[in-house]
Amino acid sequence: MPNEIRIFKLRFQLNGRQTETECEAQETLAELLRNRLNLTGTKVSCEVQVCGACTVLVDGLPVSSCTLLAYEARDRDVLTIEGLAKPDGTLHPIQQAFIDEFAFQCGFCTPGMILATKALLDENRKPTREEIVHFMDGNICRCTGYVPILRAIQRAAETLGQRRS
Ligand code: FES
Ligand code: FES
Repeated sequence: MPNEIRIFKLRFQLNGRQTETECEAQETLAELLRNRLNLTGTKVSCEVQVCGACTVLVDGLPVSSCTLLAYEARDRDVLTIEGLAKPDGTLHPIQQAFIDEFAFQCGFCTPGMILATKALLDENRKPTREEIVHFMDGNICRCTGYVPILRAIQRAAETLGQRRS
């Protein structure tokens, strides 16, 4: 007898909007975002929760969407890179800082880096260099090197700090 494919209805908050869709029991959140919802800013590389390319925020915390089952996002609040800029296209200060500091080359790691940075700066407005390195150790970049990325995160923290004061 062929394996039965179980389809679930799924409702969750996605980039500020209530979203309803379907998913299979074994479908990951990364697959759901990329294949059903066309949000391809979320990248997939290792698929075993090592590289951080697939990082999205769930209820404000960074998670590897390659290993989170899509149905686990039910009733949660998910933020992907597509939801970070303002509706008029103005980039979030973290995105702008990555551009200003030349903190990417191919850009494959960048959505995950930026979302992890958001989680860090939401939790710790003035992280030290050591705290940044520690927090970001789940996000791997193969081409830029980490110095510009560190500078971008520090610049973003300064910009956000100035806006708050
Ligand atoms: S693709 Fe998910 S952690 Fe690497
Ligand atoms: S910019 Fe290419 S992997 Fe980071």
